[in-house]
Amino acid sequence: MFSAEVLNFGSLNIDHVYRVPHFVAPGETLSCLNYSVFAGGKGLNQSIALARAGVKTAHAGKIGHDGGFLIETLKEAGVDTQFVLEGETPTGHASIQVDSAGQNSILLYPGSNCDISETEILSVLEQQIPGTWLMLQNEINSIPFLMREAHKRGLRIAINPAPCTDAVKDYPLELAELLFVNEIEAAQLSGSSGSFEEIADRLVKQYPSLKIVMTLGGAGAIYRCGKEFHFEPALSSEVVDTTSAGDTFCGYFLSSLMKGFSPADAMKFAAKASSVTVSRPGAAVSIPLAEEIF
Ligand code: RIB
Repeated sequence: MFSAEVLNFGSLNIDHVYRVPHFVAPGETLSCLNYSVFAGGKGLNQSIALARAGVKTAHAGKIGHDGGFLIETLKEAGVDTQFVLEGETPTGHASIQVDSAGQNSILLYPGSNCDISETEILSVLEQQIPGTWLMLQNEINSIPFLMREAHKRGLRIAINPAPCTDAVKDYPLELAELLFVNEIEAAQLSGSSGSFEEIADRLVKQYPSLKIVMTLGGAGAIYRCGKEFHFEPALSSEVVDTTSAGDTFCGYFLSSLMKGFSPADAMKFAAKASSVTVSRPGAAVSIPLAEEIF
């Protein structure tokens, strides 16, 4: 039986990245300053963050016939790819504008990421050992089904329900142990506004058994579990491209907990890793190695 410490069932995207002087406005035609193609997808990025942080990681997901280089990228990072399927639907892709401040605006084509059958999901889950962590995002289909089936099989669930949609409110998030949200997703999920602390309080009431990590971009990140609270400021670094900063945070936080660090230390390592990611261009390619962080 396969023995990864984390199975990440998630998206694999081809990222088309356009450097722009500003985000294109409705009705505007804008020439970009530079164009690059990178491996991406919240799923792939988080697998690479976990693997680079030193965790034995397997990725499950689906590409089309055009996605071979994504498998190569995962393998180069040491991620097991035996559960990455190939089908007829083209590989998912993202059209990403990055402005001069390093901020991004992303348009997604889900493609093969949302063409995964329940039979395919079950066949992957059946090969996992109880106690293995299952990492999830919200860029593939059938997340509620995946959560229920994984929970039945004794997998430990960490979920970053990004991008957040209305449907996420009905996901069985209480089956997870670890929830990662950014400030916008936290407000959407809790249906509340107010200070970051108030929104986090509301989420804790909604999901009392979860460890909750709320990332706040340049404002840092909050950790909550019941009454336990920790705030981690963001480290200042030159911002080149913020793409995959959140994915890096998720991967490094989970890997640090798995190594036995406290949530407070895990937040520190995750913040440091994210600060390195934003200082470099691209998604997966910008995620640091363990020796740069620990
Ligand atoms: O989180 C960043 C990722 O979001 C990009 O790599 C892009 O593919 C989108 O999924």
